[in-house]
Amino acid sequence: MAEPVLWTPDGAAHSARFGDVYCSRAGGLAQALGVFLQGCGLPRRWRGQPRFTVLETGFGLGLNFLATWAAWRRDAQRCGQLRYVSVEAYPVAAQDLLHGVEALEAANGQAAALLPEVRQLAAALASSWRDMAPGLHQRVFDAGQVLLTLAVNPVQPALASLPRCEADALYLDGFSPACNPDMWSLPTLAVAARHCRPDCRAASYTVAAPVRQTLQQLGFEVSKCPGLPPKRHRLEARLVAPPR
Ligand SMILES: C[S@@+](CC[C@H](N)C(=O)[O-])C[C@H]1O[C@@H](n2cnc3c(N)ncnc32)[C@H](O)[C@@H]1O
Repeated sequence: MAEPVLWTPDGAAHSARFGDVYCSRAGGLAQALGVFLQGCGLPRRWRGQPRFTVLETGFGLGLNFLATWAAWRRDAQRCGQLRYVSVEAYPVAAQDLLHGVEALEAANGQAAALLPEVRQLAAALASSWRDMAPGLHQRVFDAGQVLLTLAVNPVQPALASLPRCEADALYLDGFSPACNPDMWSLPTLAVAARHCRPDCRAASYTVAAPVRQTLQQLGFEVSKCPGLPPKRHRLEARLVAPPR
């Protein structure tokens, strides 16, 4: 059965299992762009590359995927192929993927410009969204130029089940570390780091000290950057000493 999403009257998607929000209606797309794409140096870092791989912890409503895909389509210098690999233990229903983008607001800037395309791509994602049983699922879009791999299982076995990703970017997007510690533990981030190429960039909305320390322990150089309101900070990291 699909994971239930509770939609609050202000349009936010809430998880009863974790007691946290997937993303806010007002800031969801801006956060995807400002925290995850910007934090991983995108679109700049995929330019001129034959392929570029993003690894994500926590697929959720798919908003980071849709924002990355839309930004890739908009970029005349995009890489030849975008691979997006994500893990998710509790896939939501296709209607919730659609509701997530319908509920989004983007008042201005890059998020507003991208919103119509994000909604259009969400329809393509939702129509491919079936049989999300535990295991590996692959979806092919844009004539094979965009490959989505979804590992449906708890994060550690899910990451361990993946062929080596050689990730160029790592989006760390579990619920907050206080209510979702599995997504941020040393064993989880260590398996994620083993999927990363040297110089891989990682990004997250959290700058919690234990998360920063764990990433440092795994060979990442970690920076606290100015965040998107209401968050004061966001995290950027670069893998300088990859684990063996
Ligand atoms: C903040 S949401 C992700 C939002 C998503 N990246 C997006 O763009 O819509 C966190 C996700 O992590 C998933 N999650 C939490 N704990 C997990 C675990 N132990 N293993 C796998 N997935 C987990 C949740 O089900 C939820 O979908």
